[in-house]
Amino acid sequence: MEQSLHPSTALTAAAAVSGPPVVDKPRITVIGAGYLGATHAICMAVLGFDVLVLDIDARKIAELSAGRVPFFEPGLNEKLHEAVDAGKLRFSTDFDEAAHFGDVHFICVGTPQASDSNAADLRYVDAAFLALATRITRKALLVGKSTVPIGTASRLTALVQQASPIGSQLEVAWNPEFLREGFAVEDTLRPDRLVFGVQSSWAERQLRAAFRPILAADTPLVVADLATSELVKVAANSFLATKISFINAMSEVCEATGADVNLLASALSHDSRIGGRFLKPGLGFGGGCLPKDIRAFAHRAEELGVGQAVAFLHEVDAINTRRRLRTVALVRELAGGDLNGTRIAALGAAFKPNSDDVRDAPALDVARMLYFEGAVVTVFDPEANDNAHRAYPDLNYADTLADAVVDADVVVLLTEWQVFRDADPDDLGALVAHRRMVDTRHALDADSYRRRGWEFRALGRPAQSRTVELELDDRDRVDSPGVQDPVRDGAASQDTDGAVLDAAAERVDR
Ligand code: UDX
Repeated sequence: MEQSLHPSTALTAAAAVSGPPVVDKPRITVIGAGYLGATHAICMAVLGFDVLVLDIDARKIAELSAGRVPFFEPGLNEKLHEAVDAGKLRFSTDFDEAAHFGDVHFICVGTPQASDSNAADLRYVDAAFLALATRITRKALLVGKSTVPIGTASRLTALVQQASPIGSQLEVAWNPEFLREGFAVEDTLRPDRLVFGVQSSWAERQLRAAFRPILAADTPLVVADLATSELVKVAANSFLATKISFINAMSEVCEATGADVNLLASALSHDSRIGGRFLKPGLGFGGGCLPKDIRAFAHRAEELGVGQAVAFLHEVDAINTRRRLRTVALVRELAGGDLNGTRIAALGAAFKPNSDDVRDAPALDVARMLYFEGAVVTVFDPEANDNAHRAYPDLNYADTLADAVVDADVVVLLTEWQVFRDADPDDLGALVAHRRMVDTRHALDADSYRRRGWEFRALGRPAQSRTVELELDDRDRVDSPGVQDPVRDGAASQDTDGAVLDAAAERVDR
């Protein structure tokens, strides 16, 4: 399904009849074997392309070569083995090899927040583009996937074409990535949409060839200019962050009025214009994308003279931070007004369940603040303990949920892992010093805890509020429908030498 009213239609029509030839089944390199790059490389290989993934970190490449994904992501290890067994995926630390190998090069390196401002640090992106540009000697496409400030792709075009021995034969395109951690495989194989930011019909056609199996599954495609494609990503993340902070702002109002934010969210979600996804109130957003992306966007908008247009993003950020402070206040209240010497069990460290990522994790931030108020904090996260320990070695870490809650004065649920939802209030109650629970993610059955003698509090809800379960969209469910891929599920089929055929395909709604 293409956007028929989009100007890209004209570009597409022209593309069919003119311009240099494209490589029908391009060899693909992926630069950067982090979250985005490793997932993209593995999925492209599973789709039947020959893929070379490069990272300058030899450790990451060694891990992948040994058949291990260097981070926690459900389903990705299996896909790695599938890709390697099919002979479709190779690994390298050598830019000469990558430049020689690829027809389409995807640049997936990180754009962290700069150490001295809210701007994005682009040094890795620039270095990767330049390393390829100086080595590529035949017509090729460099495709940025990293999240970058608007204007970066245009600047890089000038930079690489000047540095390249083939000059303007080397083209730059942008293809923003919207995958969520915990759903990375599914989101990559069956994205909600693809966006191509291109400067020529050749680049568009080459990208279409590189995404043929996904497009064959009737994935919506928007073809755009470079600036729009850069903006799509930060606009999407800004919208999502705003939606979360909106409901969390309502949470503050609920706290001041005795209203119940869960009932409010439930009522709002039935309005199909609003919808329930990303309207879950709680401790707020964290992770490697949303917080840094909205800050970098606001920073870039100020540079462009349109800072006022996105000034609300500062408030979105501030609302998000206030949820953490409110959590500390609630724990303090339950502990009798003073945290000094109080034993706290902190359930969760990752920024969300099914991830071991602790970057800007609200959970760890709360644990750290409790610690600074003198509490004895013991953290347990099913997957993120090691990363959390590296980030905050001063906290205590338990190997099991049971160990974490022993003798606790207050238990605070900070990341909604299934294992915490499944815990029996009586079993936990037998281990703690006091049956006091703060549920910051609305993950637990409040009624059930109260019946078993727990003092139970949740953000944005009156002290005695009953259990309200917010409906979960199937696309956000981690325990079901499993990871499918278009090749296996008949959205596209493979011929004998592994080439992906764009067979008639039906998009299976997730
Ligand atoms: C996000 C975007 O969803 C993705 O499109 C982009 O490519 C990268 O950033 P991710 O960081 O993996 O993905 O996590 P996401 O599932 O979006 O959750 C972000 C944060 O928001 C988490 O901390 C989560 O707990 C929180 N959240 C999410 C809420 O507090 N309420 C909600 O309703 C949804």
